[in-house]
Amino acid sequence: MFTGTKVRLRPLEPDDAPSLWRWGADPEVVRWMNAGYPESLAQLTRRHLERDTNSYATTLLGIETLGDDKLVGAIRLRDAQPELGMAQLDLWIGEKDQWGRGLASDAMRVMCRYGFEEMRLHRIELWVVADNVAARRVYEKVGFVQEGVARDGFRRGGKWHDMVMMGLLEGELR
Ligand SMILES: CC(C)(COP(=O)(O)OP(=O)(O)OC[C@H]1O[C@@H](n2cnc3c(N)ncnc32)[C@H](O)[C@@H]1OP(=O)(O)O)[C@@H](O)C(=O)NCCC(=O)NCCS
Repeated sequence: MFTGTKVRLRPLEPDDAPSLWRWGADPEVVRWMNAGYPESLAQLTRRHLERDTNSYATTLLGIETLGDDKLVGAIRLRDAQPELGMAQLDLWIGEKDQWGRGLASDAMRVMCRYGFEEMRLHRIELWVVADNVAARRVYEKVGFVQEGVARDGFRRGGKWHDMVMMGLLEGELR
């Protein structure tokens, strides 16, 4: 259920905290993400250990490469609402040397399939900074379409950037 052609999704373990912290502290990885205020490894580890268990409302999974079982990123379905059959999606590949290998696209397909087939979602949506070309390409490749723009919805490096809302309906996953 959680295995694609290149990656497997799995629950995060306590030992994953240093990887999560390293990704969050990497300016290139968080360039187009709202990474919050700087956090020490101790603070992140505490938050990580106290995280609620996965549930319908929020499912956070690590992305591991098939073959060498290396944790390279994480993906999350959150704010799921059963009445609307809708959830929000977040994605990051924190290991930069793994970018461009199709891992994000594969992880998206696995997570969205899980959302539609097992959680009975009808719609998955996400927000992405308009200038995050690689992420927008991933989302378009798997079938997401642009549905709206929040003008100046993100600020980075003293500049405003538009945010794009994208949505994927049941049956549209490619
Ligand atoms: C964006 C991100 C998820 C992409 O992960 P990835 O594993 O490299 O993605 P994939 O290899 O599946 O696909 C990347 C696609 O973008 C394309 N791409 C990459 N950089 C690009 C650029 N600068 N301009 C245009 N296309 C680009 C690649 O060619 C590929 O498309 P293709 O398969 O048609 O050739 C990853 O770089 C990442 O996590 N970045 C940091 C966190 C982040 O921005 N997350 C998204 C927040 S909304």
